[in-house]
Amino acid sequence: MSVLLEVEGLSLRVRRGAEYAYLLERVGFALEVGGTLGVVGESGCGKSMLALALIGLLPRGVAASGAVRLDGTDLLALPERARRATRGRRIAMVFQEPMRALNPTQPIGRQVAEGLRAQLGLGRAEADARARALLDRVGLPAGVASPHTLPHRLSGGQRQRVLIAIALACEPALLIADEFSTALDMGTQAQVLALLAELVAERRMALLMITHDLGLLAQVCARALVLYAGRAVEAAPTAALFAARRHPYTEGLFGCSLHAGHTAPGTRLPTIRGQVPPPFARGPGCCFAGRCGRVEPDCLPEQPPLHAAGPAHRVACLHPVVTV
Ligand SMILES: Nc1ncnc2c1ncn2[C@@H]1O[C@H](COP(=O)(O)OP(=O)(O)OP(=O)(O)O)[C@@H](O)[C@H]1O
Ligand SMILES: [Mg+2]
Repeated sequence: MSVLLEVEGLSLRVRRGAEYAYLLERVGFALEVGGTLGVVGESGCGKSMLALALIGLLPRGVAASGAVRLDGTDLLALPERARRATRGRRIAMVFQEPMRALNPTQPIGRQVAEGLRAQLGLGRAEADARARALLDRVGLPAGVASPHTLPHRLSGGQRQRVLIAIALACEPALLIADEFSTALDMGTQAQVLALLAELVAERRMALLMITHDLGLLAQVCARALVLYAGRAVEAAPTAALFAARRHPYTEGLFGCSLHAGHTAPGTRLPTIRGQVPPPFARGPGCCFAGRCGRVEPDCLPEQPPLHAAGPAHRVACLHPVVTV
């Protein structure tokens, strides 16, 4: 299968006076055309920063290095104008807060059509017709909401559907969902995510989904990437990860809920004792050493690189968990 997205040695650096720190450090992974990747990790590990780096919306003061290649073109090396053309057209993102992402004063049909006109250069009539069809497809047919409806008239789940329609409008090759739909109640969340997964399969879009929910990871994503303190510590097919975690951090994340047998949607990551070190407090050694029950003296001098731990399974740990 052909590679769509190739992230190589991606680092995000911030400065504070003469000091600097990494929000992401040499993160690398690949995503195939139509592939699904789930990114997991505790709060503050850099998941949203990764998403923003991919879509080219990093906050001021965050400097990126490395490569983010989409169809072989390094997006980090493109001038902003060309980068903007990629956004929405080739890569789209659905955000967690639909009310913030939608314009409250504009009818939903117009918001869907706007992207089509701006990105694809369609005329008004054609854009409106396509917007109508998209709203139908995401479960907002005429009987439920008209293109003239304003966002505040809709429920949370319906607004998320509008966001999906906007993201899909230009048929992106990659869709990024950062904690999408977590603001909704469980039943609505499951429905919206089922729709997203269905559309991804139907359109052969690749999906990068950031989640705290192991049930969703298992249900939606073929592969998983575990981030800890800005570093990729484990990458594997999701099924392999559910069968056996190699990194003690992943084991900590998964352990409690798996042992309790809860992997249905809504299963949140359990908490691990201690906290993710903030960016300016991260030392040179293994970033998890301070919280790890398997730590040895050789963990401290340097962060171990990812190495093979099974078929398509990689782990960054000198003393990985061994299961028999
Ligand atoms: N504009 C910024 N400048 C400097 N550091 C930032 C900025 N925004 C976020 N950070 C820091 O970057 C780190 C990663 O943040 P990020 O939002 O990517 O975490 P996350 O994994 O998405 O967490 P959550 O699960 O809570 O959404 C955090 O330590 C955060 O404090
Ligand atoms: Mg986040």
